[in-house]
Order: sequence, then C-alpha cells, then structure tokens
Amino acid sequence: MDSNLRDKVAVISGASHGLGLAIAEEFAARGAQVVMIARGEERLGRAAEAIRKRGGAATVLPGDVSDAGQAQAAAAEIQRRFNAVDILVNNAGIPAPRTFQETDFSDWDAVIGVNLSGVFYLTRALWDCLLRAESASVINISGTAGLRGGGSPAYGSAKFGLTGLNHAIALAGKEHNIRSTILYPGGIDTGWRGAPIGDKPRSETMDPAEVARYVAYLVASPPEFVINEAVLNPLDEPYM
Ligand SMILES: NC(=O)c1ccc[n+]([C@@H]2O[C@H](COP(=O)([O-])OP(=O)(O)OC[C@H]3O[C@@H](n4cnc5c(N)ncnc54)[C@H](OP(=O)(O)O)[C@@H]3O)[C@@H](O)[C@H]2O)c1
Repeated sequence: MDSNLRDKVAVISGASHGLGLAIAEEFAARGAQVVMIARGEERLGRAAEAIRKRGGAATVLPGDVSDAGQAQAAAAEIQRRFNAVDILVNNAGIPAPRTFQETDFSDWDAVIGVNLSGVFYLTRALWDCLLRAESASVINISGTAGLRGGGSPAYGSAKFGLTGLNHAIALAGKEHNIRSTILYPGGIDTGWRGAPIGDKPRSETMDPAEVARYVAYLVASPPEFVINEAVLNPLDEPYM
C-alpha cells in the first residue's frame, strides 16, 4: 500500500459508483481513512466492503447531499468520529435532460439541488472539521459543461455555479490552510446517462481509475501551492 495519504481523513460524496468510487478506492489504497457518502445504502455498503477486503479503511454514511439536514447530520457524525477532515471531494452529481425544452421545473430543482446546493451544504457543514486539519484540500468535481455550458440548462448552470462556489471556498480557506480546487473533466467511462461502460476507445473517454489517480495527485501536491483549477480531457474531446 502506498502511504502518502496515511492518517488522512477523506470524505467523498457520491462514493458508491463511478468516479467517486474510484477516488475512494485510490485514496484508501494510499492509506487514507475514506468516509463514503451516497444515497443508496446497499450499493454503498458493498463498495466499502470491497475496499476493506483489500486492506483499506472505509466508513459509510448513507445520505442525500441535496438535503441540508442530511448534510448536517452526516457532518455531525463525521465530527463525532474523526474530529478533523483533511480532504473533502464534492463529487456527487446527477445528469440532467439535454435540452431547454425537455427540462421541467422538477429536473431543474433536482440537478441544482445535488450538483450545486449539495456542494455548499456539505462543505459548509464540514467547515469546522476542515479548519481543524493541519492543512485541508477541497476538490470540487465539475465537468467541461462548467466551462462551455451546453444545451442542458440545469447541468450547465449548476456546473457554472460551482466555479463561483469554488472561488468562494478558496477565498474563505486561504488564511486557514484550506485549498480548494475545481476539476473540469471531459467524458469519463462510468455509464453516465446509461452509456455502456467500456465500449469507447480510451482516446474518447477516460478511465475513472486514471482520473482518480489525478485527483490523488492534486491533494498530495505540496501545501505551499494550490492548483485552483484543472481541465482533464480524453485526447479526442475538443478542449473548447
Ligand atoms: N461521467 C462523466 O462523463 C462525467 C464527466 C464530467 C463530469 N462528471 C461529474 O463527475 C461526478 C461523478 O459522475 P459519475 O459519472 O461518476 O456518476 P455516477 O457513476 O452516476 O455516480 C454518482 C454517484 O453519486 C451518488 N449520488 C447521486 N446523487 C446523490 C445525492 N443527492 N447525495 C449523495 N450521493 C449522490 C450516487 O449514488 P446514489 O445514487 O446511491 O446516491 C453515485 O455514488 C459528477 O459530479 C458528474 O457531474 C462526470
């Protein structure tokens, strides 16, 4: 086991599947105590059990980050068990209808609720725990829709909003050794929107395990500097 995250407490939202699960696996393999949050309890439990079987330390906290009360309850439990949090990865996200006409009010509320408000709720609720770490990293998972928008009003607006929120977190954290990074990945092979996993060449979609390695690189970078934002694309995906 690599040890560069040994004794670090890492909270990851959306950790039962896709990129969040790959990040939890990568961090646990590097010695972190991972705290995994997602709504579906059974899938979350299975994911954590697989990590423990490989010798990692994983705790599950079933919950919905778009519900302020549940985010606060999760944070209170994390504070009770671990006191300080070294790493927070705001990864939980849901897809949205692709066009303006297809998007109804409930789609808008759901997507803004998880992909934007959920990031604020969890980060705000965990702020005191982040302050207690010697130095802490917040990683906000956006997407290239956060740079160039696209047809989906809810998804694009949530990810654009996340850029503003990342700035605010970085400003608030600056004097307290809390770094905040926003990551804009292109397509990741997670079965997003029901796409079959593994059917595209690697130049068109990224392996979640590789993206997770990059996230580990971000948090393990020297504390004297911060990578404020990073864009990560499969080779064949247009940059802008
Ligand atoms: N896949 C891509 O091509 C791609 C590209 C760019 C950016 N991204 C971003 O990467 C992140 C992860 O995407 P992914 O493809 O890995 O998604 P995924 O495979 O669908 O996994 C989403 C994870 O988030 C959890 N989740 C969803 N809603 C939640 C909520 N309200 N509270 C807590 N957990 C919740 C899910 O579990 P439950 O459903 O059980 O809660 C699951 O663990 C998202 O922010 C997405 O916008 C993805």
